[in-house]
Amino acid sequence: MTDELTEAGGTTRTTAFSGGGGSPRPAAASSERLSVPKSSVCSRSYFVVVMVFFHVYIVNVIALLLYVHYSSGQEDAAAGPPGRDAAQAEQQQQARPQQPLPSGTQCTRDVPLPRVEGVRVGHVQMLSLVPNKVHEMTTLSLKPLLFEIPGFLSEDECRVVMQLAQLKGLTESQLMVQDGQEELAKELNLSPEEIFNLLDINQDGQLQLHEILTHSRVRDGIWLTPENLQEIYAGLKVDKDENGSLSLEEFRLLSADAFQRFLLQRGVERSQLVRNSRHTWLYQGRGAHQVLQDIKERVTRLTRLPSTLVDLSEPLQVVRYEEGGHYHAHHDSGPVYPETACTHTRLAANASTPFETSCRYITVLFYLNSVDGGGETAFPVADNRTFDEVCLIQNGVDLMDTRRNCEKSNLRVKATKGKAVFWYNYLSDGKGWVGEQDEYALHGGCVVTQGTKWVANKWINIDPDYQRQARYQHLVSQQPEDEDGLTLHFDIHQEL
Ligand code: OGA
Ligand code: CA
Ligand code: FE2
Repeated sequence: MTDELTEAGGTTRTTAFSGGGGSPRPAAASSERLSVPKSSVCSRSYFVVVMVFFHVYIVNVIALLLYVHYSSGQEDAAAGPPGRDAAQAEQQQQARPQQPLPSGTQCTRDVPLPRVEGVRVGHVQMLSLVPNKVHEMTTLSLKPLLFEIPGFLSEDECRVVMQLAQLKGLTESQLMVQDGQEELAKELNLSPEEIFNLLDINQDGQLQLHEILTHSRVRDGIWLTPENLQEIYAGLKVDKDENGSLSLEEFRLLSADAFQRFLLQRGVERSQLVRNSRHTWLYQGRGAHQVLQDIKERVTRLTRLPSTLVDLSEPLQVVRYEEGGHYHAHHDSGPVYPETACTHTRLAANASTPFETSCRYITVLFYLNSVDGGGETAFPVADNRTFDEVCLIQNGVDLMDTRRNCEKSNLRVKATKGKAVFWYNYLSDGKGWVGEQDEYALHGGCVVTQGTKWVANKWINIDPDYQRQARYQHLVSQQPEDEDGLTLHFDIHQEL
């Protein structure tokens, strides 16, 4: 650049531009430059060029200052760079005190919700979660953002959690017939024609098996396979022309009542339910067994979330699957609609919100024993290029069916004692808070083919509606506590 300046000052404009070609100049040119008369630095063209560069420089400096100013607010949301630096950045991040969320109703989102960076599949991060031990956390997928930490719990901790659950007693995770399903069907208020049209995805005037199953895999808590549905068609004699799909006339014969009567007559086994396991809940707050409090503390460090959020989340759910037990693919959390309220913040919600769902920002799943056969956790669509609900059932293969099709899942995590996996059920909203549900977070427990399987779930509840979460925290913080540290008057966790 200095070269060009000198040249521009000493020669005509044409000569200055001709220097941009990149070809080496003859030696004579530089000696020519030396002979430029001193008075030429005061020429008009020299002045113009200097001013142009000066302005460009000033604009650059201003742009840089603006960039630094506006990007500093985002700093916390992003974790460190990949590789060893990431581990360092992570430790620094952990050393920083966690800022609690503002608890008033007048709050700003200037404290972004931390989100662990996945970097890339297979990326390993070192974590210091407990004294004298380093845990290795490996990224398993980016969609959903999913990590694995072997040895997160010690053998003793696994044993204590299983024993505490047994002491408390486990109950069936799913009742045989779910109440309220019928009422929901009536509330729908849609005619058979309207339902037919909605189910007829390809609009060919026929309902193929997968079109019915995409929307009604689960009936009264019972999981329907394509064969079950065919059996129902045959039992109720609805598929008159026996072509495997239903016309509108045939569909009318398949009323909800007929469906239910058929299933009841035929009898249902536990293996036909969505979830075939037993579970219980263990409180982790003040006064709880030390092991349970330690686990909660470790989860707080792992997720880097403010401890208030973890403290106000659901208790630990301990699950036991017998041989033959399973949990078909599902989302731990509900989708976000304007009219949806979260179960945990319903105290702070508008009383008229018609739908309620669990808002579980993060799932931390612990394996409490090593399973002898089967029992992996499957993520059917992890890291798929696209998500397509319809493609979950193809050619009679239902990817959500973890009794049959686990091996076709994109990702399976082996159940190994002490290991933890954790993932985000929601995406970020890009502004430092919880955004849309992550459809790729679909997962299930594969059938246990040998032995039993024990797992525990720690769900971290956050309301995607920031104001509602803040209002809820404010309400809870004003409540008096009893001597065990339990918040009185508020029934936060019904099942405790
Ligand atoms: C659950 C769950 C998976 C498993 O309990 O919500 O998804 O592997 N469990 O047991
Ligand atoms: Ca069709
Ligand atoms: Fe789950």
